[in-house]
Amino acid sequence: MSVTAQIPTCDLEDLQSTDPARVAAASSAIREGFGRYGLVYVKNHGVDAAALDRFYDSFRAFVALPEAAKAPYGRGDLWYQRGWTPPNTEVAVASGGQPDFKECFFVAPYDNDKDLEAQYPELYPPNVWPAETDAEFREGYIRLGRALHEAGLRLLEGAARALELPPSTFTGLLENGPHVTRVLNYLPLAEGQLDQGILWGEEHTDFNLLTLLPGGRFFDPAGVPAAAPDSKSGLFLRTRATAENPAGTLVRGAAPPGCITVQVGQQLEILTGGEFLATPHVITAPGTAGWTRLSSAHFMHLQSNQVLYPLGRFRTTTAMRNYGPPVLAGTYSIKTLVDIGLAPKAALEKLGYRHYDRLDTQRAETKD
Ligand SMILES: [Fe+2]
Repeated sequence: MSVTAQIPTCDLEDLQSTDPARVAAASSAIREGFGRYGLVYVKNHGVDAAALDRFYDSFRAFVALPEAAKAPYGRGDLWYQRGWTPPNTEVAVASGGQPDFKECFFVAPYDNDKDLEAQYPELYPPNVWPAETDAEFREGYIRLGRALHEAGLRLLEGAARALELPPSTFTGLLENGPHVTRVLNYLPLAEGQLDQGILWGEEHTDFNLLTLLPGGRFFDPAGVPAAAPDSKSGLFLRTRATAENPAGTLVRGAAPPGCITVQVGQQLEILTGGEFLATPHVITAPGTAGWTRLSSAHFMHLQSNQVLYPLGRFRTTTAMRNYGPPVLAGTYSIKTLVDIGLAPKAALEKLGYRHYDRLDTQRAETKD
């Protein structure tokens, strides 16, 4: 399914170095990684692997609860931006209605800005913590989200420098964004579901700016952590199309030991006018029944009142045609959350004037 590709590794310590050669090596890894593959592996990222294992153990205790116990934390009213997302809820835009084979949990690792909370209540709701989870789950969750976020900020400063932009170009647009950390459980396939084309996650691109993936864990049918059961399952990423290879190449997203994977989302593609491309990715299910996989991701978003449009240097005629008209990041989020089945279609009605009925009411009054 995939070929081996030389996805570069960016060392965050190199990015912070005073040695110009180390900074240049890290910058070139970002340019090549984000420009050609849409992703880069990151070393010296500050995410504690042992703490991640403990966090996955505590999340397994939550997913093992009966559906009825988890149901109150499935918050459709919050467009599932906090708490539990039940199986068969989220749909990739490309999937033609086939929901992903997974259940998720969403937490914001930082406190919300109060103004943004009032302006976009579903994008900035308070966290939802199940009564059944312990302090270790909560603290481990927040710690993981913040470690990933900090690594993302350093990498984005490096990405700006790699593009010869001021270092805070991207990070300045992210402050108080609706960043969320997701942990998810890919569901076990029954014997009859094997080799039916069921995917754990249909191919898609992420709609945020940058996604950080600290690595998942497989569990065998007895629930014991184990290596992948076969070569069929896992994360595959599609590289940029070229004239010789218009479909791109599917690459297995297996970070080198000790590294995390960071991929470009739609917002970074738009800001750079396509210089960095959002990475299509798919999560394939194993060819063996009963296996599950836990995985997590931190999604960094533009602050919702920032304008999503190519930045000055990238505003070519083609980019303006491809990415116009400019929209607010919050509007873009609402539209996408409707597209992927998490927000109701009625959410779109809020994007225009919605008080036309007042005139109708007044005209009805004059008839009397
Ligand atoms: Fe994704």
